[in-house]
Amino acid sequence: MNVFATEAGTDLYEHATTHGKAHIASLFKQNPKRFEEFSFSIDGMLLDLSKQRITHKTLDLLCAIAREKKLDQWISDLFSGKKINTSEDRPALHTALRTPKYQSLLLEGTNIIDQVHENLDRMEKLVNQIHAKQWLGCTGDAIDTIVNIGVGGSDLGPFMACKALCDFTTENSSRIDLHFVSSMDGSHISSLLDKLDPTRTLFVISSKSFTTIDTLCNAETALEWLKRSYSPEGIDQDLIVARHFIGVSATPKKMIEWGIPDSNHLYFWDWTGGRYSMWSTIGLPIALRIGMDNFRSMLAGAHEMDTHFHDTPFEQNLPVLLAMVGIWNINFLCITAHAILPYDGRLSHLPSYLEQLEMESNGKNTTRSNERVGYNTCPVLWGEIGTNAQHAFYQLLHQGTIPVMCDFITSAVRYEGPNNIELKRQHQLNLSNCLAQSQILALGDTVIEGAENAPIYKRYQGNQPCTTLLLDKLTPHTFGMLIALYEHKVFVQSVIWDINPFDQWGVELGKTIATGLLPALTGECEKPSLDSSTLGLIEHINRTN
Ligand code: F6P
Repeated sequence: MNVFATEAGTDLYEHATTHGKAHIASLFKQNPKRFEEFSFSIDGMLLDLSKQRITHKTLDLLCAIAREKKLDQWISDLFSGKKINTSEDRPALHTALRTPKYQSLLLEGTNIIDQVHENLDRMEKLVNQIHAKQWLGCTGDAIDTIVNIGVGGSDLGPFMACKALCDFTTENSSRIDLHFVSSMDGSHISSLLDKLDPTRTLFVISSKSFTTIDTLCNAETALEWLKRSYSPEGIDQDLIVARHFIGVSATPKKMIEWGIPDSNHLYFWDWTGGRYSMWSTIGLPIALRIGMDNFRSMLAGAHEMDTHFHDTPFEQNLPVLLAMVGIWNINFLCITAHAILPYDGRLSHLPSYLEQLEMESNGKNTTRSNERVGYNTCPVLWGEIGTNAQHAFYQLLHQGTIPVMCDFITSAVRYEGPNNIELKRQHQLNLSNCLAQSQILALGDTVIEGAENAPIYKRYQGNQPCTTLLLDKLTPHTFGMLIALYEHKVFVQSVIWDINPFDQWGVELGKTIATGLLPALTGECEKPSLDSSTLGLIEHINRTN
């Protein structure tokens, strides 16, 4: 099955054979206006695609493919709440989570925009209560430490956003100490609990399903820690849970079963995919970190990107262009590695967030009509703060043997005001590195005179396709735009590849098998029938214990 066996696809294969090998440096030589012609902007954000291996014809043909795949209809289905997550029989309505209050969207007769805002208001009350030191622990001390326990989408988005927006704390929110616990092996929680005061600590148990074992085992450990701390006072478990636990889930019944009372619940809905959920009440840690006004500003930024995505012709549409250039690289130039390189330490967790967003969404080999794909889908994605990665894996980007497409992400303005002169200088240095690296990666050592005389081990071949995403400034608003941009990019690529980006069946088998192996490790089952490697490892572990 090849989704590119169409008129536009065939034209693009042909175009790739004739033009795909052109070096980016020669494209710049041929057309000195590349930047003007291949950079696109909306308020607060610029997308520079001029260092990609594209021409106007490439973009025209890519847009023709998007039209062939009826992308406009898919976009409309996404926003209107059609059940496009077919394998789970539900819509994917993360866009509704950032839709303004005055709009409406009916889902089975209910206006879900009202529901969204009721829940945001409920979250706001809770945030204000904690910020005002009115949420008290069992002994009457005000809570000043929050521990978010979650994993995957119930961790990565809030974790990343809290770091990204660390400059936007308010007077009240900066008094809160915020921690994230996700690892199943106990590493995060064990090192944390020693440092915390149980009387002032509140745990937020974030889990869409409220069945994820990683989260539940950490939650149990937290509860036992609190019970032990409160045992001298003889405080009973129900009170401990009521004062020290909040649950955030799309499955209230499970929160009740775990013991969290209704009053401590925040809700979201099954039509919110885990990796698309930071806009919902899963974003509670973000709101606690930056305050509700800033949280709403982040939602407004995402909504602005939604509107742009929904209303703008493909030729000027940032998510569509970003996605289609990715399709060109992956399916026509056979580039299957993608580096995410933020030149901003505040975006240090963006690569791991995008790893889940992209690879859990589009890392699939089956089409919507249940056929094996005959083409590449999601590339391998990884990344690191750009300037740090320069001292780590850039060697491979510059002189390795595999082609890698690179996203450079930074902002033009940082560290304003007369007291920030040194830091502003550091930012300029950082920007010069960002620009230098994308320049060399794309154009190679043609950027310096006489490079051809250097020995071969000193040469830089370049031609690694680079995108630069330049924010005017990193604010809650532009950050919301940035994340929504990537969400929609992923959606567009899924449409072209004919895959469902909203399920994740590939993560299920591991959970089942792990549950089955546990008794062999705890000694509850003698000799399981297993492959020799797994059995050998179990026996070695048991002998060593
Ligand atoms: O195992 C994968 C996954 O289902 C992700 O899709 C999800 O974000 C994560 O686990 C956590 O799930 P939950 O929020 O239900 O605990």
